[in-house]
Amino acid sequence: MPFFEWKQTLARSLSEALNHPDLPPEKLVDEFTFPPQIELGHLAIPCFSMAKKLQKPAGKLAQELSQRNYPLGISAQAAGPYLNFKISPNQLFAQTLHQIVEQKENYGSSTFGAGKPIVLEYCSPNIAKRLGFQHIRSTLIGNVLSNVYRHLGFPVTRINFVGDWGSQFARLVAAFELWGDPSRLNAENLAPSMDHLLEIYVQFHKEVETRPELLEKASECLQKMEAGDSTSLALWKKIKDISTQAMNNTLKRMQVEFDVVEGESIYISKIEPILKQVKDSTPARVSEGAWIVEIPGISTPALIQKKDGTTLYLTRDIAGALDRYQRFRFEKHFYIVSEQQKLHFQQLFGILKLMRFSWAEQCEHLSFGTVLFGSEKMSTREGRVILLDKLLDEAKALALQECMQKNPDLANKEEVAEAVGVGAIIFGELSTHRTRDMEFDWKAILSFEGETGPYVQYSAVRCKSLLEKAAEKGPPLSSLPEASSYAFALEEEALLVLLSRFRSVLFNIIRDNEPYHLTHYLIDIAKAFNRFYYKHPVLQATDPLARDIRLSLVKGTQNVLENGLRLLGISCPQQM
Ligand code: ARG
Repeated sequence: MPFFEWKQTLARSLSEALNHPDLPPEKLVDEFTFPPQIELGHLAIPCFSMAKKLQKPAGKLAQELSQRNYPLGISAQAAGPYLNFKISPNQLFAQTLHQIVEQKENYGSSTFGAGKPIVLEYCSPNIAKRLGFQHIRSTLIGNVLSNVYRHLGFPVTRINFVGDWGSQFARLVAAFELWGDPSRLNAENLAPSMDHLLEIYVQFHKEVETRPELLEKASECLQKMEAGDSTSLALWKKIKDISTQAMNNTLKRMQVEFDVVEGESIYISKIEPILKQVKDSTPARVSEGAWIVEIPGISTPALIQKKDGTTLYLTRDIAGALDRYQRFRFEKHFYIVSEQQKLHFQQLFGILKLMRFSWAEQCEHLSFGTVLFGSEKMSTREGRVILLDKLLDEAKALALQECMQKNPDLANKEEVAEAVGVGAIIFGELSTHRTRDMEFDWKAILSFEGETGPYVQYSAVRCKSLLEKAAEKGPPLSSLPEASSYAFALEEEALLVLLSRFRSVLFNIIRDNEPYHLTHYLIDIAKAFNRFYYKHPVLQATDPLARDIRLSLVKGTQNVLENGLRLLGISCPQQM
C-alpha cells in the first residue's frame, strides 16, 4: 500500500542524510503525519525532534532537507518547521487504483498482525436485563476494533463475558421466587418475557427501600446457587437462556458477533484453587471476616472473598484472566468497559502483577465516555432504561420517513430503512472520540447532509449508480486507464490521496484503539467525492481519458466507502 511504503522509503532517505545514531529509519517512520491541506503536500514530517538531536533550529533543518533529491520522484518543500512531501498523482493513481481493483474487499488489509493473538472483550452485559442504551458503546467500539485488527492480520478472539452470576442476578432470582409468573417466561415470546423480568427487578429495588430483609433473601439465594441447589439453579438457567437469546437478536441487528460467549458463572466451580493461589502469592489478609488484598499504589484494598464465603465479580475476573491466557496466549487483552470500572481493573491488573504473571502487562482496560440521552443518565434499578431494540426500531422508523421523502419509489423499503437507521446509530456513536462523553442527538445522526452514516451510505450509493449507468451507456471500465499523461485537477488529486491512505488510517486506529479515525476518514472521503463530482462531469466528460480516470476514481471511492462501512458493521443499501 503506497503510503506505508512511501513513509518507509522517505524515512530511510532522511535517516541517511541526517546520519545520527539516534535517528534510525524505524524511529522516523512514526513521525510522519498528513498535512492539513492537500495543496501543501501528501505527507509531512515535523522537524522538531530531529532538529533537537542535531541542535539546530527546526525551520533551518526543514529548509536544508527540502533541497535534497528524494527517491520515487517525490518532491519536498519546507513550510516553517515542517517538511512536506508530494508524490506524483500519476504514480499515485497507478498504484492505488491497481491495488483497489486487485484486492477489492481486502483493500487496506495487511499481514502485519500474523502471529500476534489479540483478545477483545466487549459488550459483556449483565443479562438478567435486556440490552439497554448504556451497552451500545462498549459493543460498537469492540466490534470495530475487532474488525480492524482482523483486517490487519491479527488473530482475534472476540469475547462477550456476560454477567450471569453474583448479587444482581441473585436479586432477580429472589424477585422471581416472590412475584414471578412462570407462564410469562417463554422463549417463543422474548420481548414480553424480558419485560416481565424487568418489572420484577424494578419492584425488588423499590420494595427494598422499606423491606431491607429482601437483601437478606437475595444473599441466601446466592449462597444456595453457589452450593448447587437444583431448584434455584433451574430457575437461574431459564432466565439466563431467555436473556441470552434476546441479547443475540439485538446484537445481530448491529452485525455484532462473538467467537466466545460465556458467563461469569463458568468460574464458580473453579474458584477455590484460584482463591488459594491469590492468598498464597499476594499479601492477602482477613479483615472483618472478609479477604482483602492491599495493592501498592492503589488506595482502596481489593475484596476477593466475602464474609459469607461467596465469590465476587473481581474474583471471577481473576479466574477469567488466568483462563484466557491459558487458552489464547494473547499478545494483548483489551477489556472494553466503561470508565466507572476503572478501579476494578486497576485492582484486577494489580493482583495479577502481585501474582507475578508477566502477561499482566499485556492486559489493558479501554474505557470510554458516557452517552447522555437528553442529559439523563440511565439506571436499570429505577426502571429508567432505554432499550437498545426500541432505539434501533425508532431509528429505523425515522430513516423510513426520510428515505420515502427522498425517493417515494424505493424498493425494499424495510431493508433499506433498517440499514440506514441502524447504520446512523452506529456511525453517530463512533463519531466522537472514544474517551469523550457524548450527547445523543437524533436529528444530528440521521440527517442525510451532515457528517453522518446516511451521508456516507448515500455517497456510496451514488458511486454505485454512476458505475451502473456507465456500464449501460458504454463499454464498462475493464482495465485501468494509463494515467501517466493526465493532468489531475485538484479535486481529483485530493480524492485519490484520501483513497490511498486507507491502510494508514487503519493502522492509526489500532495505534490509538480509536474507531473515530475511521468515521472521520469516511466523512472526508464522502466530502472529497462530492466536491469532485460537483466540479467534474464523469459520464459527460468530453475527453475519453478523463472519463475513464474519473470512473476509476468513482470505483475506488465506492470500494473504500464500502470496506470502511463494513468494518464499522454498517451495510450499504443498493438504493436509497
Ligand atoms: N457485566 C459487567 C457489567 O455489566 C461488565 C463486565 C466487564 N468485563 C469484565 N471482564 N469485568 O457491569
